[in-house]
Amino acid sequence: DHGAMIADLLRRMNVTEKVGQLVQLAAGRQKTPNSKLDDALLARVRRGDVGSLLNAAGADALHELQRVAIRESRLGIPLLFAMDVIHGYRTIFPVPLALASSWDPATVRAAARVAATESFVAGLHWTFSPMVDIARDPRWGRVVEGAGEDPYLGSEMARAQVLGYQTEDPRNRDAILACAKHFVGYGAAQGGRDYNSAELSDQTLNEVYLPPFHAAAKAGCGTFMTAFNDLGGVPMTANVDLVRHLLRERWGYGGLIVSDWNAIRELIDHGVAADDAQAAVLALKAGLDMDMASESFATTLAASVTADKALLPLLDEAVGHVLLAKARIGLFDDPHRFGDAGREAAEILSPAHRRAARKAAERSIVLLRNEDGLLPLRPGTKVALIGSLADDKSSPLGPWRCRGETGDVVTLKDAMESSDIDVTYHPGVGPRDAQADTIAPAVATAKAADVVVVVVGEDYDYSGEARSYTHIGLPGHQTAMLEALKQTGKPLVVVLMSGRPLAIEAALRGVPAVVQSWFLGIAGGPALVDMLTGKLSPAGRLPIAMPRDTGQLPMTYAERPTGRRAEPDLSKDSSRYHDVAIGPLFAFGHGLGYADFRYSGVAVEPRGDAVRISVTVTNTSDRTAEEVVQLYLRDPVASIARPVKELRGFARVPFEPGQTRSIAFTVRPEQMAIWKRGEWVIEPGRIDCFIGASSADIRASGSFTIARGGNGRDPAA
Ligand code: IFM
Repeated sequence: DHGAMIADLLRRMNVTEKVGQLVQLAAGRQKTPNSKLDDALLARVRRGDVGSLLNAAGADALHELQRVAIRESRLGIPLLFAMDVIHGYRTIFPVPLALASSWDPATVRAAARVAATESFVAGLHWTFSPMVDIARDPRWGRVVEGAGEDPYLGSEMARAQVLGYQTEDPRNRDAILACAKHFVGYGAAQGGRDYNSAELSDQTLNEVYLPPFHAAAKAGCGTFMTAFNDLGGVPMTANVDLVRHLLRERWGYGGLIVSDWNAIRELIDHGVAADDAQAAVLALKAGLDMDMASESFATTLAASVTADKALLPLLDEAVGHVLLAKARIGLFDDPHRFGDAGREAAEILSPAHRRAARKAAERSIVLLRNEDGLLPLRPGTKVALIGSLADDKSSPLGPWRCRGETGDVVTLKDAMESSDIDVTYHPGVGPRDAQADTIAPAVATAKAADVVVVVVGEDYDYSGEARSYTHIGLPGHQTAMLEALKQTGKPLVVVLMSGRPLAIEAALRGVPAVVQSWFLGIAGGPALVDMLTGKLSPAGRLPIAMPRDTGQLPMTYAERPTGRRAEPDLSKDSSRYHDVAIGPLFAFGHGLGYADFRYSGVAVEPRGDAVRISVTVTNTSDRTAEEVVQLYLRDPVASIARPVKELRGFARVPFEPGQTRSIAFTVRPEQMAIWKRGEWVIEPGRIDCFIGASSADIRASGSFTIARGGNGRDPAA
């Protein structure tokens, strides 16, 4: 019956009111909750010229705005309130790349659930999350916002976030609309330079960049956002083939499609539109429904539609999508069901939400290196904690911290000082310090300790939107500080804080223990202390490779084989760099814990058309720990060369000391389908399977046969 209600509304709307529904305006970029809104903006709402607002929040303010829209505009259509709630509203969780390091969709879903609840009680309907862009070049600063390099892991994380935000039914209490962004290819910006053009083969686009979007759509994601970039010369904001034909028609996507910020007007800068009017028509024709902030729709579309009646069905279609999104979350039934000042006070940053943030932080930490069992720290160890990032209350909130506040953050220094660790802190140097004269006193502090824990990396503002770098090393004097600390001869634990994997092989040489902490949110400090002291065994895994050197980028474990595979022997002509060792420093899927696991006995059994692949894993240690068991497949002979390995299953599994468990994965032939001349095709033949602890640490293998070829997964199905 939404259809009838929408059709009735469309009949009653004039062209200006229709265009109004497609207009999303900013209520300021950094508005504090419940701050007073412009009179000019309110006047536009009263006229019915606005369909959605972004960046306004706070139950009282949003109820008042909604009241104006409903009571004072002619048709009383409710507004849709949106915000970038990326990794928490006020209770800030680890950044998305860190959450993906948990390799645990349940943790990711739980984080999105808390974010949605806080947003809901603050009156919001819609978050611009998840970012499901695959990123294989961490020079691109927005790598921090996604799930890393792999389409399978990325799809699992996309689904988890969509279900976390929206629940099974977006009309549920505390559900908000999710937005899969940025459709598509934004993470493939050439050279890792933000907003740059992307060049993707049809193969790579379909097999690598599109699957997480498809997973989001299948999970019911209410909205999509198009990307800023062009793909082979066609900006995504005006991409008829991919937005209208693929997303809308082939995938049957009926949700709301919004542009990125000002992107419709930027079609002029891209060089495909002469003016706002042409830009607006191009976007509408491509299938976009809503103009975020550019005002190209607001200023030109009504005149264009009046002049060219052929545009009217497209306008109606777009308005229909906006109204449907509003209906899907129940705004027409009860426009005030979102936003509750009482719950806002009671539930935002509640103890339960803080606990969830702590748990997510614990599960996101990746232990990259641990020689001679340096970690966990023995009780009674005298620790020197060095590096101003250890005491930075802002960086753990990461970019896109929404309503997060530095006062909510417990840093590593705070947490260590309130634990029973015997710790002395010195800031040494941080990423932006111009002077190196604090290195000497930091070294003196180190000399007086048994073990040195040094926090280095990037502060939060090195990653995120428009934060691309040509060298992703340790900024400032941090490398010099590390070298000076190495000279003390004290065992060194390096904690890397960053929103991207850094390329710092040389700086880490000779360092026995390395931890990737990313930006862990408000509870990163205590989570790290529990990990360093062994209260918990870390089980995070890299969702993106850590390169040795920036010059290796872009890179992925799932590369295609070449005719001249990389050889250690430099006298042979092979596919490698002469000045850097082969492969990444730490591979996709890598991460250590405090237990050891033995893998044995891969069994492959047919299950109808599918196969069940199982492996026996034993915790050979005397401590409770988790292992992330990873399944990779390869089609060794195909009509189109296949990647050397592709992740097709994973499970984060708890083990008691000495416990043996059988871990099973089901693989359907469609999961090995190949994109070939516009279709998914399954080719018969042998498939090799590799099970292990990372993409570079395969512990067991087997194979199976696909007996029958045929059509593969059709995204439209
Ligand atoms: O959601 C974001 C997007 O990811 C980048 N440009 C601005 C949008 C709204 O803030």
